[in-house]
Amino acid sequence: MPMDQINERIRLPRLRERLMSPEAAAALFKDGMTVGMSGFTRAGDCKAVPFALAERAAHEPLRITLMTGASLGNDIDKVLTEARVIARRIPFQSDPTLRRQINAGEVMFIDQHLSETVEQLRSGQIAPVDIAVVEATAITENGGIVPTTSVGNSASFAVLAKKIIVEINLTMPTGLEGLHDIYIPTYRPHRLPIPLISPDQRIGLPYIPVDPEKIVGIVITQKADSPSNVLPPDAETNAIAGHLNEFLAHEVKAGRLSPALQPLQAGIGTIANAVLHGMLDSPFQNLRMYSEVLQDSTIELIDAGRLSFASASSITLSKGLYERVLNNLEHYKSRLMLRPQEISNHPEVIRRLGLICINTALECDIYGNVNSTHVGGSHMMNGIGGSGDFARNAHLSVFVTKSIAKNGAISSIVPMVSHVDHTEHDTDIFVTEHGLADLRGLAPRERARQVIENCADPLYRDLLRDYFMRASRRGGHTPHLLEEAFAWHLRFNQEGSMLGKQPHAQAAAPALAEA
Ligand code: COA
Repeated sequence: MPMDQINERIRLPRLRERLMSPEAAAALFKDGMTVGMSGFTRAGDCKAVPFALAERAAHEPLRITLMTGASLGNDIDKVLTEARVIARRIPFQSDPTLRRQINAGEVMFIDQHLSETVEQLRSGQIAPVDIAVVEATAITENGGIVPTTSVGNSASFAVLAKKIIVEINLTMPTGLEGLHDIYIPTYRPHRLPIPLISPDQRIGLPYIPVDPEKIVGIVITQKADSPSNVLPPDAETNAIAGHLNEFLAHEVKAGRLSPALQPLQAGIGTIANAVLHGMLDSPFQNLRMYSEVLQDSTIELIDAGRLSFASASSITLSKGLYERVLNNLEHYKSRLMLRPQEISNHPEVIRRLGLICINTALECDIYGNVNSTHVGGSHMMNGIGGSGDFARNAHLSVFVTKSIAKNGAISSIVPMVSHVDHTEHDTDIFVTEHGLADLRGLAPRERARQVIENCADPLYRDLLRDYFMRASRRGGHTPHLLEEAFAWHLRFNQEGSMLGKQPHAQAAAPALAEA
């Protein structure tokens, strides 16, 4: 690498001597270590050391506990899983190979609220980080680490780790410096309030402050982030967005929200991205986001002049938008800020700012409980991510889902969710392509009517009405037929459809409003 580039990227001269190959960096790890790596939803992951670790593991035992911000790109989780490097994984993932190993019981996966991991590290409740590996744009004159497209847990990993390896990524523009706001809460019990009262406020430093002597190696990389893999909006997600926009417009008309709404949070994945994309067709102006991941829809809203500012912990974009943002950083930098996930997802800040939080459910039940993580109650999909941080503390907690999955073999509205991530106490609004259930201020029996009549697919509506009416006759505050509550999931497992081989909805039950 040319000397001027080295000098520009590593501004503390004595650290330049610590440049090394990925293989030399990988040699610093020991079997059984806890490793904290940068990376959050495919953005800002380290792209050389993980592969060198996988190579090393081909010749000698090397099993680690791997902590990150969230999921990784560049097939890192896949390659490390195949090399059997990952013994434990915290706090989120979305890789099919790793998912298989988790569900086979081969990798121990700790599915955590994303705001909590570094809090548990700081207070010594989980094993300390031996080595932090952090992707950076540059190292400052005082040894501070300037992150790239995500902050995630990198700041606290680096501050708390015994040793740090920095991966300087030359494909990341130096203009990224100034995009980040690194604030680390003080130790409890004498912690001060987090002084953040607006999404665009800067409360910390533009780099991760570390003792430069802890930086034991610097590796140069040139690989880009993996592009986002979300699918474009479709008829169902457009309908979901339409119902939500109509509801929010109604809230504005009723004087409960201003035309700029409250700051928005939108979850990961295709559906949440599409719903936010739908705000392009809404009457709302001057929107602001205080979220965890910024997806394509954020940039589209900024470009359309709808969104004035977005704060998050990472930017995960499709290829075209990724290039547009990195090539026009000066334009976007005044509208974007990246923070540690502990701050982007902090319950104190979420409650103070009064966020409208839009997250995705795998399945919802008729009483308002949500499963976002476990297919069939047992098999991990991705993890709870930040959805719990946001849902519990939101001004308005919205869950969106398509009403059916797998061509109708699965109803996303069920009598009882097979795993609970978000309890009935943390959910306000459910939206599917069929409509919206406003659960605020309703008792369980009232909620069930809303959810069944407004959100369930017609294929399953009569079955749900029938279940609810028979359960109601048996009594209870939250009526259930325990012997049948999971019969739908069992039928799917045994017969390939929650409807069974023969559709069960022969005798149409009356609409609940008429019952
Ligand atoms: N049972 C089984 N599978 C289901 C299902 C159900 N009730 N509902 C959906 N699925 C399947 C879909 O068929 C799809 O499968 P495929 O990948 O084989 O096509 C898969 O789940 C993803 O669903 P999709 O409709 O494409 O939604 P998505 O990309 O928006 O992802 C979640 C939805 C729930 C998986 C995703 O949002 C998630 O992991 N959420 C939890 C974490 C979170 O909310 N983080 C954000 C906080 S900021």
